[in-house]
Amino acid sequence: MQALILVGGEGTRLRPLTYAVPKPMVPLLGRPFIGWIMERLHAAGVDEIILSCCYLPAAIEAHFGDGRKFGLKLHYVVEREPLGTAGAIKNAAKLINGTIYVCNGDILTGLNLKDLLEFHKARRSIASIHTRAVDDPSQFGVVETDPSGRVLRFVEKPAPGQTQARDINAGTYILEPEAIASIPAGRTVSIERETFPLLIEKTASVYARSTRDYWIDVGRPDTYVRAHRDIFDGKFEAPVGKQISNGVWCRDGSAPPIGVHLEAPVYIGAGVSIAPGARVGPYTALYDGCALNDSATVSTSVLWPNCRVGARAVIRDAILGLDVSVADDATVAPGSVLGRGEKVESSAVA
Ligand code: GTP
Repeated sequence: MQALILVGGEGTRLRPLTYAVPKPMVPLLGRPFIGWIMERLHAAGVDEIILSCCYLPAAIEAHFGDGRKFGLKLHYVVEREPLGTAGAIKNAAKLINGTIYVCNGDILTGLNLKDLLEFHKARRSIASIHTRAVDDPSQFGVVETDPSGRVLRFVEKPAPGQTQARDINAGTYILEPEAIASIPAGRTVSIERETFPLLIEKTASVYARSTRDYWIDVGRPDTYVRAHRDIFDGKFEAPVGKQISNGVWCRDGSAPPIGVHLEAPVYIGAGVSIAPGARVGPYTALYDGCALNDSATVSTSVLWPNCRVGARAVIRDAILGLDVSVADDATVAPGSVLGRGEKVESSAVA
């Protein structure tokens, strides 16, 4: 079976991190983010994936190549201008040969994809949508259904009282060729705002399946950090790598040097150097090639590859992008999200 992953967005909410790295490639405990999605699709029987790209596509292709290493056949379809979530699917239509999974490239979910397919087939649906109940749907697209799951209406970012429904569009779909044929070619089209409402009106065979599986949109700094926390806490899957002691994972399986104080949970990438006297954790990820000097302290933070942390520097509740350096004795202000190559000086508070 085929899948298409929408990975063309600019990821503006994750800036400045996404100036250097497209959102699908942000590191998440051992894999680029879409690696988690691809693995789940593969486990559900998908062997061919179309990556619908626009922003920084080369970074995605450089990592995944033709997909053979991952047991997949991958195609890259690159838009010159963003075509929107349905326009992007239409743009790849020539490669699509039947029923297809479509996934937003920024959703981490424990959804059982095979169950969704069974649901889709049992109802002879032409488009099936995974939905999930949330307490406050005001920032999402709400999906109203009848008791059989037939979709009646979409309400985008509802105002209070506009709908009683709490199920939001959770960003995984199954589409039939008929649904893709209905998308106009050659212009920007939104699947939520245009394609689904039109299909509901014309066919009455769009269905939604609400589940209570783990679900998070990793597209904001706070949710990106929460995804780390949830994986550390076992709410999704385990981090990739070897667990060298309770709650301490190392990408390359090598133990950190004696004299380093580790407070689980912690993830340590490949080629990370940590000087004795440093304190790391809890809920901290140090990605490949990071270096911590004597008595540096890093907690509840995510450091992207090749960050340098000076002696006695303190980092708490922060995300540091690629190649960030923090001087000796500097403190990074909690809540900071630093872009590639930024420098934090010792007198400055970032
Ligand atoms: P923000 O700018 O932070 O909202 O992120 P985003 O650009 O990723 O937008 P959004 O979260 O709404 O997109 C949902 C999914 O659709 C993401 O996986 C995007 O990569 C993808 N996407 C959004 N617009 C396009 C598009 O025009 N073309 C393609 N190929 N994918 C898109």
